[in-house]
Amino acid sequence: MKKNGANTKAGQVKNKMHTPVFLQTVLEALAVRPDGKYIDGTAGEGGHLGKIAEQGATVLGIDYDRDQIERLITGGFGNKVTLVHGNFRDIARIAQTHGFTAVDGILLDLGLSYRQLRDKGIGLSYRNADEPLLMRLYDDNGTTAAQVLNHESAGDLIRMLVKNAEEPYAAEIVEEVLIRRRQAPLKTVGDLLEIITSVSRRNRVNAEATAARVFQALRMRVNEEMENLECAMHDAVELLRPGGRLVVITFHSLEDRYVKLFGKNTPGLKAIRFQVRSKDRARFERSAQLRVFEKQK
Ligand SMILES: C[S@@+](CC[C@H](N)C(=O)[O-])C[C@H]1O[C@@H](n2cnc3c(N)ncnc32)[C@H](O)[C@@H]1O
Repeated sequence: MKKNGANTKAGQVKNKMHTPVFLQTVLEALAVRPDGKYIDGTAGEGGHLGKIAEQGATVLGIDYDRDQIERLITGGFGNKVTLVHGNFRDIARIAQTHGFTAVDGILLDLGLSYRQLRDKGIGLSYRNADEPLLMRLYDDNGTTAAQVLNHESAGDLIRMLVKNAEEPYAAEIVEEVLIRRRQAPLKTVGDLLEIITSVSRRNRVNAEATAARVFQALRMRVNEEMENLECAMHDAVELLRPGGRLVVITFHSLEDRYVKLFGKNTPGLKAIRFQVRSKDRARFERSAQLRVFEKQK
């Protein structure tokens, strides 16, 4: 496989460490005020959260990856920052528990951070061939990527690849998965990569781009990413004060379509056109999209 190419976070593990996506634009979109209260539902490596806190605001940071939140807890953000290990699909309960209602802004910067892709050791990136195909970020007892590949029906696997990643070679990939799993269960990233490489070679397409899509689709399935987002968006609107803003950064078309339509179809929510600063845009992959909504007064 080539070293560079896929236009995804996974494809850029090496180059883009620790830089929060669209940082300046996000701060402007949230209209951060020193006396304001904000929720960062995807605290991650604390890039956005740290900058919001630097302005003197009170912040609740949530992340469902225990490693991320534990690192943040030792990060010395001060007593105006509350950090919670949890899934943003439970944002309503977590926010209530910590007194974050009628907030001024909520940020959801979806997907994964570069550190997770590089270091988690659970098969999130197609670059790490020896890692086990787990991909579970939150529920240690939930289904793993290997279980999905080894046990789901051909129809379900094809639907997953098409729905989550619009994978054009879904049927061929799944056919090979079924042949392979009859011999021995798939266990590692390398096992799946062999299939992806052989299908891509046969069709004369970029194997890295195919791998990026297949890994994204599996990760979304294992972590129920669309379900989490759907729950969080509804509850986030409830948690905003009138005039408060919801800022969402998406990384693929399924998420972005959902967020855009949600904004359009939710009474009392107004989409705000917010131009991503050119400096911010230049640093990030084209797939990143920013959506900003304001709760009507
Ligand atoms: C792109 S990173 C966020 C980076 C962060 N904005 C920063 O500046 O460092 C996305 C983070 O969201 C977390 N995440 C994804 N889905 C989540 C969910 N449903 N609930 C809580 N955290 C989630 C991931 O574990 C990851 O740490």
